[in-house]
Amino acid sequence: MIELTPLLNKQLKTPLYMQLYQYIKKEIETGGIPPGTLLPPIRHLCEHLQLSKNTVESAYQQLTAEGYTESRPRIGIKVLPLEKTLMPPSQLKNREPKETEQSSAATYDFKYGDIDLSHFPFKTWRRCLQNALDSEDHDLFLYGDHKGDFGLRSELAKYLFQARGVRCVPEQIVICSGTQNAVGLLCQLLSMNGRLVAAENPGYDGVRSVFLNHGCAIQPIGLETDGINLSQLAASRAKLVYITPSHQFPYGMVLPIQKRLKLLEWASRENVYIIEDDYDSEFRYQGRPIPSLKALDKKENVIYLGTFSKSFLPAARLSYIVLPSKLADEFQEKLGRYSQSASPIIQKAVFLFMKEGFFERHIRKMKKVYQEKHKTLISAIKTHFGNDVEIIGEKAGLHILMKTGRRAQDLIHKAEKLGVKVYQVSDFWLEPHESSSSIVMAGFGGLSAAEIEEGISILRKAWLSSSKQER
Ligand SMILES: Cc1ncc(COP(=O)(O)O)c(C=O)c1O
Repeated sequence: MIELTPLLNKQLKTPLYMQLYQYIKKEIETGGIPPGTLLPPIRHLCEHLQLSKNTVESAYQQLTAEGYTESRPRIGIKVLPLEKTLMPPSQLKNREPKETEQSSAATYDFKYGDIDLSHFPFKTWRRCLQNALDSEDHDLFLYGDHKGDFGLRSELAKYLFQARGVRCVPEQIVICSGTQNAVGLLCQLLSMNGRLVAAENPGYDGVRSVFLNHGCAIQPIGLETDGINLSQLAASRAKLVYITPSHQFPYGMVLPIQKRLKLLEWASRENVYIIEDDYDSEFRYQGRPIPSLKALDKKENVIYLGTFSKSFLPAARLSYIVLPSKLADEFQEKLGRYSQSASPIIQKAVFLFMKEGFFERHIRKMKKVYQEKHKTLISAIKTHFGNDVEIIGEKAGLHILMKTGRRAQDLIHKAEKLGVKVYQVSDFWLEPHESSSSIVMAGFGGLSAAEIEEGISILRKAWLSSSKQER
């Protein structure tokens, strides 16, 4: 076992875990710690350097997330050869210490969309990719099925039934390269050019812009404390509605069963299609899991959208549509000549990952990981801010909103000066809206529990000092 004796300085703005991470990273890159070396066990290093467990754990997690090390059960943290890191070594060399970069590396970025990479099973995923490439199936290297890999669609049909109560056959599933690609296809399938789409306001701007670019007009529908306002929706006379019922984006409320049934009744009566975006329903922290809207959809008015971006990796660029059977036939007629946009190789590897049970295991693990981070985030906000900050949307997902009663733009700016990034929400409203001006968004998927804790405590300092100055 090696010893490590870095020079750590508590007085610096860069947190201790980051200093330790940077030290080990540099030693690995310059050959001071050769590949195959086992890093000292966490407990040992804590004692040796008089650091907290969180500090050492966070440094190790960051190294593993970036592929410098891997965690081997019962063996320890092993240094990997440089060619196995996530960034090519040439790039790593170029990354050496610019003053500005060092300070940006020290930031706590509460960015929505980042996920936890330190628990991602890279080794298993690599093996699935390798097994996919070793396949005898030559179609793998060509365009592939235009609706997507049949095996992957079969696995998805099984998964969606078990996890979300969706009953469908693989023929109803279309694999897409992300949610925006899926919505673009639906606009063409449903000939939406020049037509009205009802959408929650605030809502997901990423999808709204796809509708607008396909020539749709958006009818914004307001929210109530329990989700979309059904009276406003009925009055809109739209024939298509886009909604996030299981975790409203960005507010986070869950549409209750009574409202789901009313929405479905209305859609069936008025012959309306509902696009249900079930983007992060795997991660719920309170109450029992709720089935999707699609699970209740007896009359086939719901088009279901899912994505691998939260449950697996955004970089897979894989999502899927479950079409009502009538639309599955129309899809074949109208878009049957479109080539599949997602890579057959990635699809095959994800199929293997699912078939061998790794996906289910990964989700089970990530539920616990995110639950823990979520708990840390909520308790840190309560500890540091008490009643000064209202937390919005804390039941599910990988982000929350913080309502402050002060100008969000100022608070974002103050936080950034101390190295913490939180985000504005104004883009989620169709038109500028006053309630957006005091809310900030904090994603927590990509930060460790220790980083969340430290990030929120710095946020407190940043906001407290600014509120004193303002008085
Ligand atoms: C509401 C909503 N839907 C879907 C997605 C996922 O999009 P994609 O599948 O393109 O990664 C996101 C991600 O940020 C989202 O916020």
